Amino acid sequence: MLKSKDLLGLRDITAEEITLILDNAEDMKMRLKKGQKSFDLLKGKTLVTLFYENSTRTRSSFELAGKYLGATEINIAAASSSVQKGETLIDTGKTLQALKTDFIAIRHPMGGAPSLLAKTVGCSILNGGDGMNEHPTQALLDMLTMREQLGTLKGIKVAILGDIKHSRVAKSNLFGLTKMGAEVWVYAPKTLIPKGFDELGAHIATSREQCVEGANAVMGLRIQLERQSGGLFPSLSEYSRFYGVNDAVLKYADKNAVVLHPGPVNRGVELTPALIDGDRSRIEDQVTSGLAVRMAALKLLSEYREAHL
Ligand code: CP
Repeated sequence: MLKSKDLLGLRDITAEEITLILDNAEDMKMRLKKGQKSFDLLKGKTLVTLFYENSTRTRSSFELAGKYLGATEINIAAASSSVQKGETLIDTGKTLQALKTDFIAIRHPMGGAPSLLAKTVGCSILNGGDGMNEHPTQALLDMLTMREQLGTLKGIKVAILGDIKHSRVAKSNLFGLTKMGAEVWVYAPKTLIPKGFDELGAHIATSREQCVEGANAVMGLRIQLERQSGGLFPSLSEYSRFYGVNDAVLKYADKNAVVLHPGPVNRGVELTPALIDGDRSRIEDQVTSGLAVRMAALKLLSEYREAHL
């Protein structure tokens, strides 16, 4: 059983809890692949998706996860809610609690917002990405995709190239993968590597080739132009030429290496279109893994609530 009513990040959960989520997600994914889209596991429960930032994959998969599990599900987009009239996050949370909400999946531009909400309300909070802090369900879906393809996470090498500095995906993957016994290597312009990332367990490569050498999984991360205050690298075309992943770079990886990207992709910047659409790409499979992981997380948090609340 999970040890908390919330899923806020992978920094503070155990390898056993990660394995529990991945095992449940694997089962969900198998059922989804057989065409099962109707489960009674959340019947009578309510899920609200509360997104203060844009999203395609995370929001739609949380919504579908709730619906497939039998929950009542609604979405609140901050742009059309009372947030626009000045309502605080805590007051919004208390309002949703008063409406008898069981689960809130939240995305927020400020790191720590899901954690603040979790302390304030009794609903279970699922972090759908908070600022530059964490994106736990993304890392879990990445790990599920890798574990299915490679058979294990223990001892594998994962190469992550792209905007590490602004990436909550990189942080959650680093916390999760290292707990599961994987080695994480990163490569980017120095201005896009956050200070102290090596102290958290990452290997900082000094070249693309070193980063990718022998890797079992190669992950491109989006260049987040919207989070950059400017001047961190000269231009997108130079970024792609010196830091992007193409066929020539991928030759350094293990011959069975898979190519991942959390999306949305800047085609031709982090990865070439040939790699995005090629045989080794698992980008679409990651999206299906995301649905399965979010279903598993909701199921396990529901079990926690039944047992403890
Ligand atoms: N990977 C990810 O978080 O995608 P969205 O922004 O579309 O949810």
